[in-house]
Amino acid sequence: EWNSGNVIAEQVARIREQVGSARVISALSGGVDSAVSTALVHEAVGDQLTAVFVDHGLLRQGEREQVQNDYVAATGVRLVTIDAVDIFLDALAGVSDPEEKRKIIGREFIRAFEQAERDLIAEAAADGQPIKFLVQGTLYPDVVESGGGTGTANIKSHHNVGGLPEDLQFELVEPLRTLFKDEVRQIGRDLGLPEAIVGRQPFPGPGLGIRIVGEVTRERLDLLRQADAIAREELTAAGLDREIWQCPVVLLADVRSVGVQGDGRTYGHPIVLRPVSSEDAMTADWTRLPYDVLAKISNRITNEVPEVNRVVLDVTSKPPGTIEWE
Ligand code: XMP
Repeated sequence: EWNSGNVIAEQVARIREQVGSARVISALSGGVDSAVSTALVHEAVGDQLTAVFVDHGLLRQGEREQVQNDYVAATGVRLVTIDAVDIFLDALAGVSDPEEKRKIIGREFIRAFEQAERDLIAEAAADGQPIKFLVQGTLYPDVVESGGGTGTANIKSHHNVGGLPEDLQFELVEPLRTLFKDEVRQIGRDLGLPEAIVGRQPFPGPGLGIRIVGEVTRERLDLLRQADAIAREELTAAGLDREIWQCPVVLLADVRSVGVQGDGRTYGHPIVLRPVSSEDAMTADWTRLPYDVLAKISNRITNEVPEVNRVVLDVTSKPPGTIEWE
């Protein structure tokens, strides 16, 4: 029978054996896999590990704090946060094409991580312990999908953020390679990680950058963050988190429609709710949410988020629609 305590003990022993006294770095994305793999390695080698978190400005409300405060409090991990918000937003200025956005975000992520890497390498060299290892939160399904390759950075290229430099100077530490998502969550809980991280629904590496249809700007990100936080809050309050695989909230920044709010006519943007039910994200159906929950979300978003005067529901399955809009 599968037992999370045994898996933790086994992995901790393996990691210690693999790493010895060398230094290790890890990239935290805010997602489940990187959080749990990093926590396991920390359990094994303590402060030989440094975790790096890149804030690209495309995160949802509270995510940076979750990592910086809650995750660190729960694990004691030594964390370096890279504030790269200006760099990412400058690079994205004027860009509306989804693939172009993805490329830019992926490229800047690697640059930011490599800069952090260089700083840490210099620091480690100064006290004589080279960084030899990089943690990857590869799961069993990822191993199967990528043909079982091992050893070097076999990162899913189609999901290239959270994807790291293919930097072969590091050997990979992959403590989740034999595990499924549910098992990873259980291990995270047993390691005392915050439920907000362990129970998190899938969220794309390029973040809110691919949930603004149109150019990504600071103002638009603020609007979307507010709308997204409201939707998440109400879905959780209604007890729907388990039924929903994920619920992208999308800002149609290039669309305007006429509305009437307060004393007058408005000309604002629509927000799309995209709740889906799925087993593996390969196919999905739109989730039949209760009307009263939809009504509450719609009322709150149009009342609380400036510039948004309409909320629409996406009732498309996948295929033909993808889960994300970009
Ligand atoms: P689609 O939109 O292709 O999404 O139906 C399938 C699943 O993948 C997630 N997704 C991404 N994850 N980087 C990621 O890490 C990406 O670029 C990316 N694009 C889509 C999406 O949220 C869904 O869970």
